[in-house]
Amino acid sequence: MTLNIDLLVNLVYIVSAVLFVFGLKMLGSPATARKGNLLSSLGMLIAIVITLVNEIKLPWENIVAGLIVGSLIGAFAARKVEMTGMPELVALFNGFGGASSLLVGLAAVFVAGNTTFTNITIILSILIGGVTLTGSFIAYGKLSERLPSKAIQFSGQQIFNGVLVLAIIVSAVMFCLQPAVDSPWLIAVIVLSLVFGIMITIPIGGADMPVVIALLNSYSGLAACAAGFVLNNNLLIVSGSLVGASGLILTNIMCKAMNRSLNNVLFSGFGAAKVSSAKIEGEVKPINPDDAYLILEAAQNVCIVPGYGMAVAQAQHVVRELSDHLESNGCEVSFAIHPVAGRMPGHMNVLLAEANVPYDQLVEMDEINPRMSNMDVAIVIGANDVVNPAANEDEGSPLYGMPVINVTEARTVFVLKRSMGSGFSGVDNPLFFGDNTRMLFGDAKESISHIVGEFKS
Ligand code: TAP
Repeated sequence: MTLNIDLLVNLVYIVSAVLFVFGLKMLGSPATARKGNLLSSLGMLIAIVITLVNEIKLPWENIVAGLIVGSLIGAFAARKVEMTGMPELVALFNGFGGASSLLVGLAAVFVAGNTTFTNITIILSILIGGVTLTGSFIAYGKLSERLPSKAIQFSGQQIFNGVLVLAIIVSAVMFCLQPAVDSPWLIAVIVLSLVFGIMITIPIGGADMPVVIALLNSYSGLAACAAGFVLNNNLLIVSGSLVGASGLILTNIMCKAMNRSLNNVLFSGFGAAKVSSAKIEGEVKPINPDDAYLILEAAQNVCIVPGYGMAVAQAQHVVRELSDHLESNGCEVSFAIHPVAGRMPGHMNVLLAEANVPYDQLVEMDEINPRMSNMDVAIVIGANDVVNPAANEDEGSPLYGMPVINVTEARTVFVLKRSMGSGFSGVDNPLFFGDNTRMLFGDAKESISHIVGEFKS
């Protein structure tokens, strides 16, 4: 009996695709996420090896050498990159995914005898890959704060973008009608898509970045899917579609979290810097850790609201300790999780899981808000935009309309941060001046460690 290699390869691809689907499913819960990650990685390993053996016909030594070098780079990056650097890393990954699709599309132009369908997929692969590449690099710049996180806008921007889209469509159609390696239309599509990636990302203001990151994630999947059609590789089509679809679902979740419509996202121009007319009134009332301890010691219900600053301070472990002390003191503790707290989806869940905070203590924003008035103390740890009451009250604020955690309704609010500085969106926060707010200035880890020390003694 002769073994049909194509059949065998496709069977292995099905196994990989099943592993991807189960992996994705398991990524949906912090309890199973690690296993899900391993399962998906295993699927990818199997897929890469079978593809290299079948299509490129490399000797085993080369494949093993490549695996060792790749694993070493991956392990080094995983150890070296700080938890706070993860969102930027993800943005770079998306960008590299786009770059690969662009290069695959470009390489396929050199293959003789492409059909019209293949030429369409080639141009899509180049186009989506190019947009993803530069868009993700701008997102990287904003997330790492190498670029200003505020929206960059100029007059006539929408018209400029409209002309750009038109020019891309015309160039793409012209290339498909007269495909050639030295076609000026091909160069036009590459350059215009790279420019378009920049143009759709720069007008997005700080607080709206979560939507863009999810969308770029989806684009990178679509680019891979287009590359799959170019290479006629079934698994790349399936895995690209999975990333594209899950990215779109995430985009939808982020849109809801930010109270933006997908229309806004696709046609850009949102996140524009509005000018708030509201004057912040009230005075700042600082508190020291000793006094904060006395209030916490008497509290029956405490809600902890973590944000990006908790990741910066790496305070999650002492926060867990504080929660344990409060609970042994007879207090009920919950952690309020805002969907866009931090710099990447699930950022707070990952940090708290790392510190072994029980999952049943994590409460979503929609569930905690109605319970906020029962809280004796809300402890805001390095969160800012996601607790900014201007989002509810100030129509002129760029945050207006974004659902936030309503900590102002708690009897007392402790805000732990180092200064009066604003959050990622650059918007001032009236919470700091509230009657029931006490500012606990300093690094969050140090402040909480001090309070924990008081509980211990
Ligand atoms: P932010 O609004 O970014 O505020 C973080 C606060 O942490 C800052 O005000 C900072 O104040 C404080 N901080 C920094 N280091 C600290 C330390 N060592 N100790 C104590 N405090 C420290 O955070 P957030 O409330 O989590 O909101 C997230 C923002 O990022 C939103 O605007 C969101 O739209 C955006 N964003 C989110 C995502 C996703 S998907 N989650 C992606 C991109 C962007 P000081 O400097 O005064 O200490």
